Amino acid sequence: MILVTGGAGFIGSNFVLDWITQTGGALVNLDKLTYAGNLENLKSLQKDSRHIFVKGDIADSSLVRKLLLQHQPTAIVNFAAESHVDRSILGPGDFITTNVNGTFHLLEATRAYWESLAADKKRSFRFLHVSTDEVYGSLGAEDPPFTESTPYAPNSPYAASKAASDHLVRAYHHTYGLPIITTNCSNNYGPYQFPEKLIPLLIVNAIKGQPLPIYGDGLNIRDWLYVADHCAAIRAVLARGRVGETYNIGGDSEKSNLEVVRTVCAVLDQLHPDSPVIPHASLTAFVKDRPGHDRRYAIDASKIQRELDWEPEQNFAKGIRETVKWYLNHLDWVEQVQSGEYRKWIDLNYGGRQLI
Ligand code: NAD
Ligand code: TYD
Repeated sequence: MILVTGGAGFIGSNFVLDWITQTGGALVNLDKLTYAGNLENLKSLQKDSRHIFVKGDIADSSLVRKLLLQHQPTAIVNFAAESHVDRSILGPGDFITTNVNGTFHLLEATRAYWESLAADKKRSFRFLHVSTDEVYGSLGAEDPPFTESTPYAPNSPYAASKAASDHLVRAYHHTYGLPIITTNCSNNYGPYQFPEKLIPLLIVNAIKGQPLPIYGDGLNIRDWLYVADHCAAIRAVLARGRVGETYNIGGDSEKSNLEVVRTVCAVLDQLHPDSPVIPHASLTAFVKDRPGHDRRYAIDASKIQRELDWEPEQNFAKGIRETVKWYLNHLDWVEQVQSGEYRKWIDLNYGGRQLI
């Protein structure tokens, strides 16, 4: 039995499905169901007793403490967070509330539980904190990729709040001996990603013949990892990772945003030739840049490869094809998530973003 937080979000729900399929194990899924949490993602587990869903906040220490005592998990995997950079720019408060204070309260409840365990259970317990490469800041074109010893230099309120949570997690190991591990992963893509992030936004806009908004010159670079590979990496870290360590996770797949647009559109041209506007790439629209937009992220994943024998299985071309197919086959899911709250976000973020 493990406790997963944020398991109704994009990566969390992929992880919950992956965990139950790959290990057969049970889990408690604690999720506040913010705009980003969606139980539709877990519909296939509705009648599966291995998935125990609890709607609640990681900042609610008494709830977390109760769940820990009741279910006696051997590990906690903390996905719960506010995760979108643009939202953190327009409203940073929620990011501090959940990513900083929420993680603090979760750590406090975990510490109390962990200290009550018998020696052998105490030794094998793990608190795995899922973080991002954005804590390392922005790279120049010629800089080497981020390693685990790259100094933190977060640039957005999102990245700063994740950096703060990473520091708290580290301190709970250093001070109290809590057996933590932190993972810092690059940009994920794949099924169930909320269409506020670049790749699903491109897919859902393109099939409706709507503009594909590209911030600035479109030459910002991200490293992209298929979400199933991230889930496999987290399983490897839980099983074999060294306590107190951090592991960088990446896809060895740096792409500029324009390359991402071209790849997604080329796949859509093949798989969805009936769209209102063809070729899909003709919908590309350069819009006002994101303030403080990080230029480049890249990950050196040699530590996890060397120590835990993990490597990504999916390459970018195949992963994008799978992802586009998934969205085309789940247009009902897309309709459902593009409800009232989503429309409000699109107006807020893109309404005042004039074309350049
Ligand atoms: P997401 O926004 O899709 O999902 C977040 C989930 O957390 C949602 O289900 C939401 O309801 C839940 N949640 C939010 N606040 C909560 C709270 N206070 N208590 C309990 N649940 C709460 O995010 P994601 O893209 O799946 O990212 C998951 C984690 O992975 C985050 O910690 C993020 O920083 C990290 N990460 C994401 C990426 C990426 O590319 N998406 C890359 C690296 C790391
Ligand atoms: P995003 O998916 O928000 O992830 P992150 O900012 O965490 O890397 O954005 C990925 C890249 O795509 C980033 O450089 C910003 C850019 N982008 C656009 O150009 N247009 C958009 O509408 C969005 C959402 C992102």
